[in-house]
Amino acid sequence: MKFFIDTANLEQIREAQDLGILDGVTTNPSLMAKEGITGKNNILKHYVEICEIVSGDVSAEVVATDFEGIVKEGEELAELHERIVVKVPMIKEGVKAIKYFSDNHIKTNCTLVFSVGQALLAAKAGATYVSPFIGRLDDISTDGLDLIADIRQVYDNYGFETQILAASIRHTMHVVNCAKIGADVMTGPLSSIEGLLKHPLTDIGLEKFLEDAKKLNS
Ligand code: G3P
Repeated sequence: MKFFIDTANLEQIREAQDLGILDGVTTNPSLMAKEGITGKNNILKHYVEICEIVSGDVSAEVVATDFEGIVKEGEELAELHERIVVKVPMIKEGVKAIKYFSDNHIKTNCTLVFSVGQALLAAKAGATYVSPFIGRLDDISTDGLDLIADIRQVYDNYGFETQILAASIRHTMHVVNCAKIGADVMTGPLSSIEGLLKHPLTDIGLEKFLEDAKKLNS
């Protein structure tokens, strides 16, 4: 399972990269705005900075919603760095653009996916990644993990190579359950990754080992 961090915050990306387990980064316009990055040049520069920190794929989202606009914006983003993945919304024009990018060897991440049907279309269009938003489904009393399981089954039925990128992850149990189901990738905040470290028996056990180690040297 690949671990992506879902942020545009360079400090958090560096921290996750330093852990040695980071496989990539996902961003979106809301996450870029949260970091106060404004203006086209600054936004493009920021994507390059992220690419220079990590060694895996970095999703950069288009804001155009028409085919020509998505293609123009996506090609510009893809030109920035070899690890940029063009993030495209699950809309009709987006599906057409994903097919175009796929035919032209540009990697894509189909975002804002909330149903199996949408995931099926993304795979048919040749998306590199599909991003079902599990947290936002949970927010409206619909089990996001069920969607991951259903997409896994459909993709396995037909051998689709599109990678299931479980997005809108909010906590460690989302990560663990996505791993059980067989999501190819998870993207979440740093807290959802670091939370995996925690177990009180580890802390208690380590304290005891260190205490006993002192006796060995005395
Ligand atoms: O990757 C998509 C993600 O950023 C959405 O997360 O927490 O805004 O639902 P959230």
